[in-house]
Amino acid sequence: MKHYTSINDINNINTWIEEAKALKENPLANIDLGKNKTLGLLFFNSSLRTRLSTQKAALNLGMNPIVMNVSGDAWGIEFGDGTIMNGNTAEHIKEAAAVVSQYCDVIAVRAFPGLTDKEKDESEHILNSFIEFASVPIVNMESATGHPLQGLTDAITIVENTTKKKPKVVLSWAPHIKALPHAVANSFTQVMQKMDVEFVITNPEGYNLNPEITKDTPIYHNQEEAFKNADFVYTKNWSSYEDYGKVINTDPNWMITKEKIGNAKFMHCLPVRRNVIVEDAVLDSDNSIVIQQANNRTYAAQLVLKKILEDF
Ligand code: CP
Repeated sequence: MKHYTSINDINNINTWIEEAKALKENPLANIDLGKNKTLGLLFFNSSLRTRLSTQKAALNLGMNPIVMNVSGDAWGIEFGDGTIMNGNTAEHIKEAAAVVSQYCDVIAVRAFPGLTDKEKDESEHILNSFIEFASVPIVNMESATGHPLQGLTDAITIVENTTKKKPKVVLSWAPHIKALPHAVANSFTQVMQKMDVEFVITNPEGYNLNPEITKDTPIYHNQEEAFKNADFVYTKNWSSYEDYGKVINTDPNWMITKEKIGNAKFMHCLPVRRNVIVEDAVLDSDNSIVIQQANNRTYAAQLVLKKILEDF
């Protein structure tokens, strides 16, 4: 595999899940594969899980990870073509990506959307600039529209926890005070569409995700109806896609409660705001699998890096 930038890069989800589970059983089985190879992790935004689990994945493969907080520590990067750089940006992506490619055998990038310009965000200008101007494989650690390492993790976690051949999985919007990206919800939707699950989405009016992502997935505006017979409730806030990047609803009645989800397993990518997105009683119950889910970030990243290293 050359790059891992989207759920579409997964050619066979069932095989990938089994491979990731095997890596989890024996994380150091491929410790020589990444010997003398360097993974550069570039963060334009904050992270706890992605930053640590992707480094852990690299170490499990014998790679040397190096990390940079690009927004805080590097020169301001210019992405525009032909820009007269007399503003705040000091270095063009053409030089930056080419230079980092000399230090790193694989580059992983996290760059969130601005949520003010839909067209710009959907162009994935940061991620795609790295693909264009770097000479090494690129891994998406959450971009404007997708978080494919998280999506793969979520698929692994559902398979580990299901007791049914075809479980019902519900993606539910929940309230949040800030405008959040669509990336996690998009990638979760895309990966569920590849799996043998009954998948539905529930969100308030005005919060439908990009129809090019949701395709024919059923969307309920009645959360209670969506939750009927659910085996997994995956919760995430996202800002409006239609009224792009806006917070148009903070109705606390959409918060996830123990009463609402019954015996369904609770999932969230984390970080999560307690008693805003979900009440304590859910997160502190045996039905919450968020910690196991976060652990699986390591094996999802390790599988992706392994596939890239095997194609060198
Ligand atoms: N789920 C996730 O990507 O967590 P971080 O933002 O902490 O990396």
